[in-house]
Amino acid sequence: MKFKIKHITNVIVSKKSSTLQQILMMYNNHKLLFAPFHGITDKTYRNAFAKCFGGFDEIYAPFISGSGTKIINPSKLTDITPILNNLIKTIPQILSINADEIKLFGKTIKDNGYDSFNWNLGCPFKQIANKKRGCGILPYPDELHKLLDGIFSDLPVKMSIKTRLGYHNSDEIFKILEIANQYPIEHIIIHARIGKQFYGGDTNPEKYIECMSVSRHKLIYNGDIFNISSFNRVKSLLPKQEIWMIGRGALMNPFLPHSLKGKFFDNDEKVNMLEEFNNELLNNYSKYIKNETRLLSRMKSVWGYLSGVFENGREIFNKVKISKNTNEYTAAISNALENQFSDENQQSIYLKEAF
Ligand SMILES: Cc1cc2nc3c(=O)[nH]c(=O)nc-3n(C[C@H](O)[C@H](O)[C@H](O)COP(=O)(O)O)c2cc1C
Repeated sequence: MKFKIKHITNVIVSKKSSTLQQILMMYNNHKLLFAPFHGITDKTYRNAFAKCFGGFDEIYAPFISGSGTKIINPSKLTDITPILNNLIKTIPQILSINADEIKLFGKTIKDNGYDSFNWNLGCPFKQIANKKRGCGILPYPDELHKLLDGIFSDLPVKMSIKTRLGYHNSDEIFKILEIANQYPIEHIIIHARIGKQFYGGDTNPEKYIECMSVSRHKLIYNGDIFNISSFNRVKSLLPKQEIWMIGRGALMNPFLPHSLKGKFFDNDEKVNMLEEFNNELLNNYSKYIKNETRLLSRMKSVWGYLSGVFENGREIFNKVKISKNTNEYTAAISNALENQFSDENQQSIYLKEAF
């Protein structure tokens, strides 16, 4: 389906609050990466998003863990294989602190046609971080150093890193970046928070700016870009930043990547796109999730975010959440689609309340 795209002139007319500077920022040649979400952005979601909304340049797949050091069980790779199934450039991700496991993962994804993968050094959950995995390794730079030595002794593909400013405090990142400077890492994505914050509290773009003067690698900014205003706020602090990773803002408002590139849709178009997305997900999930409760729980995890694109997002989601079968679910979604779209302020509140 082709949609009429509203261009910059319409923006100037319709958005009284937009300053010329904001509009020019939107028109910069940004590259936008969709952040990975374990339990949500699996391949069915990623492809449905690419087909119905688009707007991102690349999507990072959620982490794969426990893939092994000798041979990788193909079941570990179903989310990222075959590569031809990806409707958008996809970057696989591994969560591991075993150099052999990471190298085998690199070789295996190369055999499957990928030329790069991402190493997750950002996951904050206690069960993971307590084992020095995810951002739990950040307080132990010497151990990270050994791991990087092991990994780069024999790695046939490019590897990037996704991390945070630290686990306990935001100065941990500096030693990590100094060590990383010694290795040919593709780029480093920094979620500008520490692990102890999980997904709440404020981001720290000022610390990210300090990282830029320590690292010789290309850095990518991630964290709380929920709308055009928040994008412009960080963009004004990081005027040279060209690549951004966006997560929850797009899970809630899938039109966000387009609007950050200066494309806008009218309300009817948006409703059609959301409807198509919901149908696409439901149809494709129902091909392999035969249990109705599991199928609905999958859809509910999507709508947990997506409901926030409407006014009264909480009420909408509560209705979706209590649906007990596909008929009730479908009725709840039809109702949802009749609501007004939320504004930036309502969307930020929706996301902040969720965490
Ligand atoms: C439910 C959930 C699952 C996530 N799964 C992953 C993951 O698999 N890999 C990863 O690197 N980050 C993961 N993240 C972190 C996001 O990719 C992203 O870095 C974070 O939400 C901050 O970006 P945002 O403020 O734009 O959402 C997850 C976050 C949440 C809330």
